[in-house]
Formats: sequence, C-alpha cells, structure tokens
Amino acid sequence: MRRLVMIILILFFNHAIATFTTPTYNAIFSFGNSLADTGNFDILIPSNPFANLPYGQTYFRQNAGRACNGRLVIDFIAQALSLPFVPPYLAKDEDFSKGANFAVIAATALDLAFYQQNNISSPILLNTSLNVQLGWFQDLKPLLCNTTESCEDYFGKSLFLLGELGGNDYSFLLGAGKTVDQVKSTYVPMVISNIRQAAEFLLKQGVMHMVLPGIFPDGCAPRVLTSYASPNKLDYDPLGCLRKYNTIGFEHDTKLQDVVAQLKLMFPQAKISYADYYTPILQFLATPDVYGFTNGAPLRACCGGGGPYNYNGNVFCGDPGIMACQNPSTYVYWDGNHLTEAAYNFIATSWLKGPYADPPILLAL
Ligand SMILES: *[C@@H]1O[C@H](CO)[C@@H](O)[C@H](O)[C@H]1NC(C)=O
Ligand SMILES: *[C@@H]1O[C@H](CO)[C@@H](O)[C@H](O)[C@H]1NC(C)=O
Ligand SMILES: *[C@@H]1O[C@H](CO)[C@@H](O)[C@H](O)[C@H]1NC(C)=O
Repeated sequence: MRRLVMIILILFFNHAIATFTTPTYNAIFSFGNSLADTGNFDILIPSNPFANLPYGQTYFRQNAGRACNGRLVIDFIAQALSLPFVPPYLAKDEDFSKGANFAVIAATALDLAFYQQNNISSPILLNTSLNVQLGWFQDLKPLLCNTTESCEDYFGKSLFLLGELGGNDYSFLLGAGKTVDQVKSTYVPMVISNIRQAAEFLLKQGVMHMVLPGIFPDGCAPRVLTSYASPNKLDYDPLGCLRKYNTIGFEHDTKLQDVVAQLKLMFPQAKISYADYYTPILQFLATPDVYGFTNGAPLRACCGGGGPYNYNGNVFCGDPGIMACQNPSTYVYWDGNHLTEAAYNFIATSWLKGPYADPPILLAL
C-alpha cells in the first residue's frame, strides 16, 4: 500500500514537473501520403496540379512538392527539432543522413495489387503503398548504417512518423461504390492491420520513438461535402459536416488507438504516440475565430474551382486560372482535401506540446 502511494506520488510529481525539453534526434523518417509528402509525388508525376503555384506560395514562394500553401505538420516538427526539412526519398541526390521522407501524395495503406484485383483504378493510384514505402526504407538502410547494432543505435535516436495512412484507401473505395458501412466493417480492419504490421516491423529494428497519426473527419472536407452532398438536413451535423462520412475516421482512429495501446505493451521501452488530426480539425470548425480562421465559412476551401465549398471535381487548385483566396491563414481548408499551413501549424504545436499527441513529441519521458 505504501509502495502504491509512493508510486502514485512519483507519477503525480513527474507529471507536475513535466517539462518540454527539445529531444535530440539523428533524423526523421516518415511514411504516409499527401499530409506528409515533401516532394515524392512531384518526382513521379512532374506535371500535376500540386506541382504548380499557388501550392507552396505562402512559405516557400514556389512549388515545394507539398499539398499545401506552405509547411505541413512534418515541416513544423522538423523545425521544432532543429532538423532540416525531411527530404523526399525519390530525390536521389539528397543527403538522407538526417532523415528521409517516403510519403507520397495519394498513397494507400493497402497494396496496389489489392486495388487491381478489385478493378479500382485512378490516375493518381500509383504503386506507392505503405509496403512499397517500407521497401524503400529497406533499400536506403545500407547508406545509413551497416550492422544490426549500428542500425538499432541510429534508428533508436530517430523520430519515426507512420501516417496518416488509410484516408486515401477509404476515398478510393467510396469512389468505386463501396458503402460507408462496407468501408467500416471490411476495409478499416485491413488498413489498420497493415499499419500495425508496419509499426511492428520498424519497432523490431530498434525504433524508440514512433508517432502514429489518425485520419481526418472527412465528412467535413470540401471535396466530400461537394461529392456526397445530401438534400436531407439530418445528414449534416451542427458543424455542417456529413455525419456518415465522419464515422469512418472515428472508426479508424478508435482502432488505431487500440493498436497503439497494444504496441506500447509489446515495446515498453519505446515511446509510441497516437497523434490526433480529427479532434483539432473539429475544434477549428467549432470555434474558428479562436484560431484566426475568420473567413466566415470554415468549410470553404481557400483554393478551388468554385461552388458552395469552393471545390469542383473538374478544375482543381493548381490548374490554370484557379486562384487562391486572399488570406489563406484565415481558412482551415487550403483545397478540397488538405488544410492550410496555419491549420497544420496549430496541429503540429498540439502534437509537440500536447494535448493532441499522447504522449506529446517534446515531452521527455
Ligand atoms: C509494386 O512495386 C513492388 C516493388 O516495389 C513490386 O514488388 C510489386 O509487384 C509492384 N506492384 C504492382 C501491382 O505493380
Ligand atoms: C474485375 O473485372 C474483371 C473483368 O471485367 C472481372 O472478370 C472480375 O470479376 C472483376 N473483379 C471484381 C473483384 O470485381
Ligand atoms: C556500409 O557499407 C557499404 C559497403 O561497404 C559502404 O559503401 C557504406 O558507406 C557503408 N555505410 C555506412 C553507413 O557505414
């Protein structure tokens, strides 16, 4: 009993004095999709809307291979850790000693072969799935470390970002006519299983700090609100989001948090964080003025081809003649799917210092 009280006191004391030190990391390695890609997709498909201004205009003043007007969460994390922006792996001439980014716009958690077997295709559905990205990591490893010990040492001092993955799988499946219920009952478990396998694969190689982000509330995305618009007001929640489509993210994120809890038990020495996009996005939409998102229509994209949500499935941000809004930092959504740099900045801070990564990235354990 005394011992338990002591432990509780120590835990409480530790918590009370928890300080945010800046951990020192060798490198950042990242797997994922457009929420993390820093240039791979543009190397695979040089002529695509994301490769054009106004993408990149706010921070980089030129196209920077990112599906955003400026920096992504991964960029803010790199800056907070005093590391360079994480170079895209497919840019073969880069120095990867401080990290490599394997994320690719439109990448999926499930393999391309799965989509081919199900007759699902899209010009942007490439062979860049999570497993392919892990293969690239394996290919890169000999340049970074040569022995099991040196690799464990190197990766043990690196930050690994695994995701978000799954959002594109669900978009492609819904686009191919699968129902929300089918997505939740059949495909969410498949996606989560792939993410879990990838996490275990990396943790077994000595990774000591891994962050696993969940997915967006896609029922709020201008693209989804436009493509799946409903005449029935009851299909919308008080924020104006499509309730049904948000349940996919909720299901995915709940299952991913279960996986993170299991991984923490399997790898007790490692620091493994679930990182939440879903909740902060709903907060931006619920109280936009608090965050400076003052454009008056928080569900409207800053850059797009018009319509109630400024999203048009035929002409995209980055296409000729499509202009961005005047003040992107007053918008939550940059384009039909992606957030503005301002929104990513708030999310990055909430992952670095809390409350939306558990544990926060900068919290010394
Ligand atoms: C995707 O690429 C991997 C190698 O990275 C290869 O093994 C696989 O067969 C490819 N899949 C398809 C469907 O082309
Ligand atoms: C895919 O298309 C082929 C050819 O049209 C058909 O034979 C096959 O049954 C389809 N597979 C699925 C899973 O729909
Ligand atoms: C690993 O070994 C290869 C071949 O001997 C060498 O080219 C490479 O520089 C080594 N990498 C490291 C990180 O020591």
